[in-house]
Amino acid sequence: MKKYLFVGNWKMNHTLEETRKFFEVFLEKIGEVDLSDRLIAIAPPFTSLYYASSLVKDSPIKLCAQNAHFADRGAFTGEISPLMLREIGVEYVIIGHSERRHIFGEKDSLIAKRVEGVYKFGLTPILCVGETLSEREVGQTLEVVERQIKRGLEHISELLPERLVIAYEPVWAIGTGVNATPEQAEEVHSYLRELLKELYGERAREIRILYGGSVTPENVNSLMSKPNIDGVLVGGASLDPQKFLSIVSIRVVKEV
Ligand code: PGA
Repeated sequence: MKKYLFVGNWKMNHTLEETRKFFEVFLEKIGEVDLSDRLIAIAPPFTSLYYASSLVKDSPIKLCAQNAHFADRGAFTGEISPLMLREIGVEYVIIGHSERRHIFGEKDSLIAKRVEGVYKFGLTPILCVGETLSEREVGQTLEVVERQIKRGLEHISELLPERLVIAYEPVWAIGTGVNATPEQAEEVHSYLRELLKELYGERAREIRILYGGSVTPENVNSLMSKPNIDGVLVGGASLDPQKFLSIVSIRVVKEV
């Protein structure tokens, strides 16, 4: 059975001291959560990542990086290699987040190379896709996410489905407090599911498709009730250990 995946993306937040305080509370309580059907990963900034790896060592919490280069080493100032991440116990890497695409100009071709590099070195890429508000308003949502998926995965031909995660994150919902409705999210998720089946066959059922964009303890239940939503990628609400604990500990009840 595919397990649900809950990922906290801290973005450029939390110093070492704040990281320590977060895990002090989070790890104390996580033992009370039934984790039999779910995985939990946290993506601190790079400075806290190595420190976090020692804090979560004997816990069920997995580590995620917020980006990675595709080479194992080399003259790439400002980049981190998948090998370096693997060395400190990182398992997941967010690639193509909308902030990377829109603020830092990362294009599908670069994102595809990052996905390939991360995959090749044994880590699990979390490929983010999503439309802007103006693209949604002119009815281009499905076209945009289809292009981002096809281009982002163009170098991944042989696929282990549990080693790929997709995150649908509508750009207009990120950090705005306006989440996609569960119906809007499910429409895109089921479209992505069919698309992944076209690319990889029936095994694509096992690929986790997460929703991201203003996920809170209040809206996570209704989002997670949708059949094709396999988890969530949480920004703002993952910075507070109590809030993230209430998100990761929900009882998931799927609509039939
Ligand atoms: P948000 O961010 O939950 O703060 O909207 C989500 C994300 O960017 O992954």
